[in-house]
Amino acid sequence: MRKFIVGNWKMNGTSNDLDEIAAISAVAQLYTLVDSALCVPATLITRAVTAVGAFPIGGQDCHMQRAGAHMGCVSADMLSDAGAVLTIIGHSERRAAQHERDADIRAKAEAAKAAGLQAILCVGETLEEREAGKALDIVLGQVAHSLPEAAAGAWLSVAYEPVWAIGTGRVAEPSDVADMHAAIRAALVARYGPEGEKIRILYGGSMNGDNAAQLLAVPNVDGGLIGGASLTAAKFQPILVAA
Ligand code: G3H
Repeated sequence: MRKFIVGNWKMNGTSNDLDEIAAISAVAQLYTLVDSALCVPATLITRAVTAVGAFPIGGQDCHMQRAGAHMGCVSADMLSDAGAVLTIIGHSERRAAQHERDADIRAKAEAAKAAGLQAILCVGETLEEREAGKALDIVLGQVAHSLPEAAAGAWLSVAYEPVWAIGTGRVAEPSDVADMHAAIRAALVARYGPEGEKIRILYGGSMNGDNAAQLLAVPNVDGGLIGGASLTAAKFQPILVAA
């Protein structure tokens, strides 16, 4: 399976950063054996698309409804209209701060699919859950309840992001990543049959140029969802090299 390396700029970036976005896309397009994309704030999508040409630009969420009285929200159709070809759904920062539940995330994934977007659906346990020995149950519960029925196909990726590894510099042990990704793969195959083998499972959480090769070599790690190390081409490139 081709690796999928996705940058997530979170709430970073203004028009001052369009040159960096163009630089990231130029670097990424050198690595033709790797799929890559960059998810930027909604305010930057259209200008980013103009800056990068054919390189895939994504959003970072979408509403589950197509339109309506939902202040400040952005629908999947709007992302697509702006030029996005993918979006991230169910990131732990939104599960925590916006109180998103598995049912919301499933509806958002369905909305993304209906709008023709690829979706990267995030799951992951907190430190407390891991220390209590509940990591597997929590993550497999999120997989079971957040993924839509029509999950099969290349439109969907799952990102395993241990919450305690996000932005902390603390990376999950490769053996723990291997166990979790194998369990997610087994759950996908049990639910979707052979199509479950085609869903890419990304790892996210302090992945960078120093640790990417080791993490990406773990079985069932089909790519990475990269926050901090996607903010510059210089930091993003070594991850593409490792992939
Ligand atoms: O979406 C990206 C993840 O939350 C990982 O962020 O690479 O800054 O730890 P990070």
